[in-house]
Formats: sequence, structure tokens, C-alpha cells
Amino acid sequence: MLFILLIMLNKINFFILFCLIQFTLNQNLLSQNKKDVFVIGFSQCTTDDLWRQTMDFEMQNELIYYPSMQLIIKDAKNSSEKQIRDIKALIEQNIDLLIVSPNESEPLTEIVQEVFRKGIPVILIDRKITSSEYTSFLGGNNYEIGREAGKYAVEYLKGNGKIIEITGLQGSSPAKERQKGFLDEIKKHPDISVIQSLSGDWKMETGRQLMDQVIERGLDFDLVYAHNDVMAIGASNVLKEKNSSKNVFFIGVDGSPGSNGGLQAVMDGVLGATLLYPTGGSVAISLAWKILQEEPFLKENILNTLVIDSTNVRALKYQTDEIINLNERISSAKKNLDLQYEKYYSQQFWLILALASLFLVILLAILLLRAFRNKLRDNAKLEQQKKEIIRQNDELIRISSELEDASKAKLVFFTNISHEFRTPLTLIIGPLENILENTKLTQEDQHQLKLMLRNAHRLLRLINQLMDLRKIDNDKMRLQAGLSDIVLFISEVKEAFNEMAAKKKIEFVFTSEMDEFPLYFDQDKLDKILFNLLSNAFKFTPASGFVGIHLRKTKHYFENELKEAAEIEISDNGPGIPIQFHQQIFERFYQVEQQDGSIFPGTGIGLPLTKDFVRLHKGDITLNSKVGVGTSFFIYFQTGNSHLSENEIISNTQQNIVLDKGVIKSHEIPELQQTYNPPKDSKVDYEDKPLILVVEDNPDVSSFIKSSLTDQYRIMTASNGAEAFEKMYIEEPGLIISDVMMPIMDGLVFTKKLKSDIRTSHIPIILLTARISYEQKLEGIETGADSYIPKPFNTKHLQVRVKQLLENRQRIRKYYQSDPLFLVSNELKISQLDNNFLKKCASIIESHLTENEFTVEQLSSEIGLSRVHVYRKIKHLTGLSVSEFVRNIKLKKATLLLLESGKNVAEVAYELGFSSPSYFSKCFKEQYNVSPTEYVQQKSGRGLSL
Ligand code: FRU
Repeated sequence: MLFILLIMLNKINFFILFCLIQFTLNQNLLSQNKKDVFVIGFSQCTTDDLWRQTMDFEMQNELIYYPSMQLIIKDAKNSSEKQIRDIKALIEQNIDLLIVSPNESEPLTEIVQEVFRKGIPVILIDRKITSSEYTSFLGGNNYEIGREAGKYAVEYLKGNGKIIEITGLQGSSPAKERQKGFLDEIKKHPDISVIQSLSGDWKMETGRQLMDQVIERGLDFDLVYAHNDVMAIGASNVLKEKNSSKNVFFIGVDGSPGSNGGLQAVMDGVLGATLLYPTGGSVAISLAWKILQEEPFLKENILNTLVIDSTNVRALKYQTDEIINLNERISSAKKNLDLQYEKYYSQQFWLILALASLFLVILLAILLLRAFRNKLRDNAKLEQQKKEIIRQNDELIRISSELEDASKAKLVFFTNISHEFRTPLTLIIGPLENILENTKLTQEDQHQLKLMLRNAHRLLRLINQLMDLRKIDNDKMRLQAGLSDIVLFISEVKEAFNEMAAKKKIEFVFTSEMDEFPLYFDQDKLDKILFNLLSNAFKFTPASGFVGIHLRKTKHYFENELKEAAEIEISDNGPGIPIQFHQQIFERFYQVEQQDGSIFPGTGIGLPLTKDFVRLHKGDITLNSKVGVGTSFFIYFQTGNSHLSENEIISNTQQNIVLDKGVIKSHEIPELQQTYNPPKDSKVDYEDKPLILVVEDNPDVSSFIKSSLTDQYRIMTASNGAEAFEKMYIEEPGLIISDVMMPIMDGLVFTKKLKSDIRTSHIPIILLTARISYEQKLEGIETGADSYIPKPFNTKHLQVRVKQLLENRQRIRKYYQSDPLFLVSNELKISQLDNNFLKKCASIIESHLTENEFTVEQLSSEIGLSRVHVYRKIKHLTGLSVSEFVRNIKLKKATLLLLESGKNVAEVAYELGFSSPSYFSKCFKEQYNVSPTEYVQQKSGRGLSL
């Protein structure tokens, strides 16, 4: 229950419980601080006799009134050695106070002192030690008792008689004191003598033995004084038993109550008299309490004594019996009370337990109720959420079904439109082929027409692929497999690619383990499969590379079943496909991204379609490719025809018709024609024409751009950004036209690099791309491109834009020529980088104005660029050589000095580092068409001294 409770408790409940525990602990701690139980050790010399038993009983009885005191009694059995051990054991028990009745004074003194010195209070009861190192003494005055006994004897003997004394244990203090008191009194009466003092030990048996000895010796005596009742009774009884006619008077000490006590003995005439010696048991307890409570107390507490004889014994006996009776009743009442208490405590315990349980049950009930309420609330919330999810789900289903409908409609439209494309494409291809048969065409015309034909085929092929995909999706694509020799078939396909392999200088081989290998396959589909894989292989294999077809007989798992198969491997040593793309390249429209972020050229249709065709054959296609090593595709076809259904198998005659259709014309392979075959760069013979760098990976497009600009410009080409940079080192172009999507380094990266490099930032660039979204346009401009023309572009548009940009450059140059100190506000579009460059150059030159020969080397070292780049950059931006640029700045400075400084021509000439004033005037006239003097006159209307 507690476990469940703990689980159910939330933070507040934990807090309440914590406070309760804390409170209980604090209570316990508080109660522990105040000592509520005192332990009293009582070392009793013996408990054999009635007197001692009475003492113990009195103590126990008194304790009823002191519930916080506990008493431990140890009985030394009349042995002083044992008593020492007992006291030590009591110390071990951590007693708070020691009551001791020493068996003998001397032997017990040391241990009692030790206890006292430890700070434990010590009460001596009845007997003493030889030292005063104790807290309090309680007992009768034994000397007085001895005297009282003596007085009584004197009185009884009436001044004349013989006495026998039986002493207590010699080493104990009462024996000594009782003897002394007695003798002191007897001494006073010369006719009374103690004829024998016999050494006893407080025991009855000893009393008897001593009396036996006395009788035996035949001594004559009148009175016996024994130090206690029991010895006196023993001696008296012996005398009676011997039927002695002697009238002897027996005096004892103690006067204990009870049937064997001294009182009874006096009543019975066994003893003549006894002296009351109170035990002090109850007083000892109240004294202990006072000491422990640090209340005032007396060190010496002497108890009264009284002579008891036949005259007063009855009254005393009656009283003591009453007291005993009363004590016994009190004691039994106490026992009853204890029982009641026990019951009460046990009932209290169960009551508390019941209340605590009730509290826990209520708490649990509250918690359960709360949990239940929360659960109900959560359930309601969940129900609400469920409803919402169902609603959203319905909405999604509705939207997706709408989407599905829409995409179905799109697909239908797409298929129809694709189909519609085929007719006009056929009507383009046919007439083009006819025109190309005409041998009178110029080379340039032939080139352009072939370009058209290749691309028309490319379009047709793409459309055919799309329609094949659609057919497969609609389950309309049928396998028409016939039995043919696959070795022969592959050889024929290979032939179509031989020319291209030779052109690209690619080693192209076909190997077969068998001369002949009859196999069931669909020639049309295998033709497309091989065409696709070989096109890819050739597309990605660099010049002088390797492409191979290998045919083998093998075993392969088809749907977990190992079967005999034909394996066709198509391998190349192209760049390889990274492992993470091996799965995806078979997914439709998936395009592989290269390491530099550009996309591998391709539509993402060819390989998925290839896979579909292989699957139609119940075959399998796998791939093994390693970056930097090459790629191998493996096609597996099952041998025999048991895996094909009846309608998938066709006869040989039908098969050949298909084969005829499948013959490939080399110009139908656009990818092959497209292999990079850059148009030749223009010769240097048109040195005066501006140089344009065309960066385009598609040779056809590159060639097309070149042909549309070649009349007015010199053209240099590169197939990607990296190559473009290399070419620029050879000769700096006046303008760049670049495609965006290119391998290795695309147009955007290229432009960014171009525009952030001070050596090339001044070269204007036009980005040319098929990516026409607005964001892409922005992207193009942010890189720093000067212009952006979307594909397909109009030749005129391109020509005009090229012209505008070059003219703009020209204007900028003029501006720099007329204002080489850049004092005129700049309204022209010049990049900040370039403008800063020129300003920096100008300020360097200004700081060297007086120097006659300020060289390009000096300038380039101060600006931190190579001589060639400084030269090229200044030339490009200003149209001036560096020395012309320097002179231009000096002359501009001269105009300012002439007008504002009041210096004459000669002074200005020397200040600007011209070798002579006449050379200065000559240069000045060349630049401003007037002499310096005329210039000043024109500007200010004042003359100037020479
Ligand atoms: C009991 C007793 C008494 C006597 C007392 C002296 O042991 O012998 O009879 O009065 O001790 O200490």
C-alpha cells in the first residue's frame, strides 16, 4: 500500500509527508535531550536473610512513586570479592547512581572511592567503608544500638550477671560499633561481665554452633547479646533444644517483621528483647531521587532505633503487619496499574496505527480521486485530439485523392503531349536528314544542321523513354522474348558504338566465354538496356579510357533461387559512383550530386527504365562501382524459358522484325556526339577584336555561341570554371559568357571566385542558364555577375548584351582617362573592388609625384600584385599602359597646381618629376590640346610667368 501511495503522491503530497516525518523526528530528538530514565545500581552484600529481603522489598515498593528510576540489584552472597566485581559490572552498565551495602569495610573502600571519583553518586546503606569519599550514608546508629542493648541488659540483670556476646562479621562496621557501644555501657557496672565474646558472621547457623560450644564448655551465663536477631534466635533455640533449665535472656538486633522475624521471636518468648534496626530501603530510594534531581540532601542520614520487648511487641507487630499488608496491597495495585498501562499503551499503539492507516486511506482515496479526475480530463483531451486527427486524416485523404486525380490528369496530359511531340519531331528529323544528303552544303551549314539533327534525336529519345515509363506504370509494357544468339546481338550493338569509341580514343572491347549463346530475350528492350548503359559508360569515360562488354555463363539467385544465367557486364574506368548513390541511381528522376555540389548530367530516367526492362525479363541488375576506379553494371538473364509466360514468348520470325527495328544509327546517340570536342579557339590574327571567353560544358551550345559571336569577337572556350581560370592566365578576356550548371566548377562558384579576386574582378561576366526561377536569378546577381541571360536565348539578345557590356567598359575607361584622380562623381557601374584598386594606385602614384622614373615594379610591389596583373588590370580598367596612367595622373595634378598653387610652369614641371619644363609642356599639350600657359589663361583669365 505504501508503495502505491508513494507512486501516487505528487510533489505537494511528498512535501506534506516530508514535513510530518521531519516533525516526528524533531519530537524524538527533543525528548532524547531530556534524560527521563535513571539507572540505579544496588550492590547488596547478601539477600539470604529476612532483613535484607525486607530492605529490597521496601526499595522496590518505593520505586512505584519514582517511575523514571530503574533499579538493578546485585547480590554479593556475603563475599567481598564478588561485591567488588558486582560494582565494576554496574559501572559498565552506565548506572547513574550506586547504592552499596559493603560486606566488609576495608576491602570495599577502594572500589567505592573509584565510583565516587568517577562522578557517580554513591549512597552507603547500613554498613560503612573506611573512607569519607561517598555521597551519602543511610542507616541506624550502631554504637547507639550497642549502648541501648547494654542499658537494657544492665536493667534486666539488675546490676549483677554474666553475659555472652555473639558478634557480627568482624570486618563489617555494624559489628564493631554494636560491640563498642555495648561494652562501653557494661563497663560502667563492675558486677556485670561479658564472659565470652564469640565471633559470628550474622548467620543463624553460626549462632547455633557457638551456643553448642558454650553449653559444651559448661559455662554459666545469664544473658546472651547477639548482634542480630537470627544469630540470637539460633542460640536460643539450641538452648531450648538441650532442655536446659537455665533461665537465659536473649537480646537481638533488627526487629524484622514477618513470621520468622525478630518481632515474632519476642512475641514467642524465643528472644527477650530486640533493638529495632530499620533497613532504610524506602528512604534510600527517595534519597537517590533527591541526589539525581540535585535537590538538597544530608550526607549522614541516621535512622532511629527502639527497644522491643514483651511490653511493646504486640503493638509493633500489629503495626508492622499492617504496613506489610498495606505495602503488599500497594504493590499489587501497582502491578494492576502496570497491566492497565500496558493495555493502555498497546491500545494507544493500535489506535495510532488505525488512525494513521485511516489517514493514509483517506490520502490515497483523495489521490486516487484526483488521478481519476485527471485521467477523465486526459481522456477527454485525447478524445478531442483523436477526433482532430481523424478530421485531419480525412482531410489528408481528401487532398491526396484530389492530388492523385490531378496528377493522373497531368500524366494523361503529359503522355498525350509527349505523343504529340513525336510527329513534329519526326517531321523535323526526316527533312533534316534529306537536306544533309545534299553535298553542296557549306561546312558551317552542315555543322549547324547536324547539331539540329542530333538534338532532335535527343528529344525524341527522351520522349520515347518517358512514354516507356508510362507504359510500364500502366502495365501496358509487354515482354516479347524470342530465342536468339545473344553473342551475335551484343556484337551488333557494339558496332554502333565503335565509331564513337574511336573518335574519343576509348578502348572498347567485347569478350564472350562462348561463341554462341542462345537465350530468350526481347531484342527491343535489351537493345535499349545496352544502349543506355553503354551511353552512360561513354559519357563518363574520359578520352583514352576503357569501356568493355563481357558475356559469361554463370549461376545467380533469382528470387532466392540459384539458377543458371547469362551475365552481361558493362564496365568503364570513368569517375565511379559514390557508394551512397548505388541504390538511388535506379530511382526515377534521381540525380546524383557530385562532390563539388554540381549534378551529374542526366535526366534520371535512363537507369530506372533499364531496371524496369531487366525486371520484365525476370532478370536482375546489379552495380559495382568505386570512386576513382570505375563502374560495372551486371545484367543477369535466366537461361531457358520456363520463367516466362506463354504470351511473353514469340517466334523467331517475329523476333527478326524487331531486330531490324533495333539497328542503331550512330547519329542517334546524342550523348556520344556530345562528348567534349571543343570548338577551336580563334586565332590571334584578329588581335584588335575583343577576346570573349565562353565557359560551357555542352560542346554544341559552346559551338553555337561561338558561331553567333565570331564575326565581331575573338572567342576562347573552356568546359567549366576551373578550366576557364587556367585559360585566363594565358590571355585575359575582355568579357566572359558562362553557363551555370557545369561539372567540376559551376558558373556560380566561378563567378564568385572571379569577382572576389582583385586580379580578375574587373572582367565582366554574363551568366547563361536554363535555371530561370527568380531566386536563381538573384543568386546569379549576388555572385557579382554583370548580366544574366536565361536559356533558351536569342542570339541577337546575347550579341546586344555583349556589346553593351563592352561599351560600358569603354565608357569607364574614358572616365578614368579624363579624371584619373577620380574627382568627378562616379555614376558608372564600377565594382567597389576595382574602384578601390584604382584609387589606391592613384594615391601611391601621388606620393611619388616628384620622382622622374616611377616604375610598374614599384607600383606592383606597393599594391601587392604581380607586374602582369597590375598592368592588365590598369589597361583593362583605363585603357592605358601603366606609364600612361602615371603620366595622366601627373598631368591632372598639374592642372590643379597651375590653377591653385600660384606656381609657374617650370616649378610645376619639376615638382611633378618631369625631366624638363619643355617636355612637360609637350605632354600637357598632347593630353589637353593646349599648352599649360594657355590652359591657365583659359581657366582663370590670368597670365603666368615662365
Ligand atoms: C543482615 C544483617 C542484620 C544486621 C545487619 C548489619 O544481613 O546481619 O541482621 O542488623 O545485617 O549490617
